[in-house]
Amino acid sequence: MNHAIRQEQPVIRVMAISGSSRKASYNTALLLEARGLAPPAMAVEMYDITGIPPYNDDVRLEGYPPAAAGFRNAIRASDAVLIASPEYNRSVPGMLKNAIDWASRQPDQPFQGKPMAIMGVSNGALGAAFANYHLRQIMVYMDARLVNGPEVMIGAGRTKFDEQGRLVDQPTRDFVAAHLRRLERLVQETRLLAARMPA
Ligand SMILES: Cc1cc2nc3c(=O)[nH]c(=O)nc-3n(C[C@H](O)[C@H](O)[C@H](O)COP(=O)(O)O)c2cc1C
Repeated sequence: MNHAIRQEQPVIRVMAISGSSRKASYNTALLLEARGLAPPAMAVEMYDITGIPPYNDDVRLEGYPPAAAGFRNAIRASDAVLIASPEYNRSVPGMLKNAIDWASRQPDQPFQGKPMAIMGVSNGALGAAFANYHLRQIMVYMDARLVNGPEVMIGAGRTKFDEQGRLVDQPTRDFVAAHLRRLERLVQETRLLAARMPA
């Protein structure tokens, strides 16, 4: 590549959300690892959803609680959203679904058109596959722009992470890094589209 004519791309700010509030969560560990696996132009920043209250439409009509408003604003301010979530009873954990419900109301629904990637870890063989697909279903309704397959569904979590929460399985590290490069590309495509076809 000719570096003299290469245009510097602005940094890609990625909001990373874990579907687990557990201290030793594999999914949170995966997002922490994603910071180092991301392409150089990508900044992966953790966002904590544990303080978001249970959804109540009466409360929303009086005004978003600060934690819910902050969540909506943070999505808006990011170039992409990266979710890593466990599977609870074959679906998305309530805490994560609850946060998404707060974000989902119009006007200015912040997931609309947002580049997104979804990952998941479980200890079972299926790698949180059902949660991954339920989350995809939700995000299709939100009109987000998703990185598609191959999906990141990491099974047998305890064999892939060490005691310190480091992702020690090299093929999985490579797979996640590839997914993040595809998210980067999706952000770049979204920027190009926005420049060529303003809303
Ligand atoms: C309430 C609950 C429901 C669960 N349901 C499933 C499930 O449907 N499928 C699955 O593979 N694991 C299930 N698990 C196990 C989780 O995948 C496992 O605890 C995982 O480590 C949680 O993710 P974390 O490490 O990020 O907290 C469940 C765990 C809990 C606490």
